Amino acid sequence: MTSDVRILDQRTPEEREHPFLPGMGKAWLMPLYDVFSRVSGVGALHRRAVEVADVGPGQAVVDVGCGTGNLSLALLAAQPKARVTGLDPDGHSLRRAARKARRRGVSLTLVQGYADRIPAEDASLDHVVSSLALHHVDDDGRVAFARDALRALRPGGTVTILDFGGPMTDAHEAHGVHGGQGHQHGHGPFHFLRHLSQLMRSRVAQNPVVARNLGNGIVTLLAEAGFDDAREVDHVDHRFGRVTIVRATRT
Ligand SMILES: C[S@@+](CC[C@H](N)C(=O)[O-])C[C@H]1O[C@@H](n2cnc3c(N)ncnc32)[C@H](O)[C@@H]1O
Repeated sequence: MTSDVRILDQRTPEEREHPFLPGMGKAWLMPLYDVFSRVSGVGALHRRAVEVADVGPGQAVVDVGCGTGNLSLALLAAQPKARVTGLDPDGHSLRRAARKARRRGVSLTLVQGYADRIPAEDASLDHVVSSLALHHVDDDGRVAFARDALRALRPGGTVTILDFGGPMTDAHEAHGVHGGQGHQHGHGPFHFLRHLSQLMRSRVAQNPVVARNLGNGIVTLLAEAGFDDAREVDHVDHRFGRVTIVRATRT
């Protein structure tokens, strides 16, 4: 099978001026994204999301807020016959995703654009997936994303969202999204990565959009858009906070 990797730009002139929150909160940190993602165990979260999404051969999937393509590539590793498109406003991350897809010899379409306009015809997708991206999207964008996912999915198609949030307990509040581990001394790359880890945890804690994910936030977002059977199917207590996996179906 030959690898077909392409990047398309679907942004309007106005959208090109539109600010967005990059993967690590700051554009200059993005070259570290993949190493940071690897050491902080995001790969295991992606593998769980892939299991939940359960993509079949030949099925069409859009990965919303795909960043450097790690969830898209995990989907293709599990189901090489899937037709995967990654969507993200960040051109640097998309180019990195394209390089990785070519190195692996897989086919991947990458679209530069925003979550509120999923690059697919009406009722044409089998799955919409999204990992750690919804908390980067503002209130209007979240609602528009949920409605557009419903438009783009065929009846029976599913949306699977992995992100910080879900029901919180006192323990999560002490150690998770609202927690902190205090300052730790040290030098070298591990100290730097630990420092980045603390930075990420506090960014998550301070992010007002993460607050929209708490409790039933994502479930309600999808139900109000018209999805059926929206529910948390799993959660993981990650060092940056509680991560929820929510799945819903278009009837
Ligand atoms: C933390 S990264 C997650 C990347 C990838 N999904 C992963 O799991 O590694 C969040 C991503 O959301 C993207 N993003 C920010 N605003 C967005 C928007 N309005 N629509 C779609 N993606 C957006 C960022 O560019 C970034 O790549």
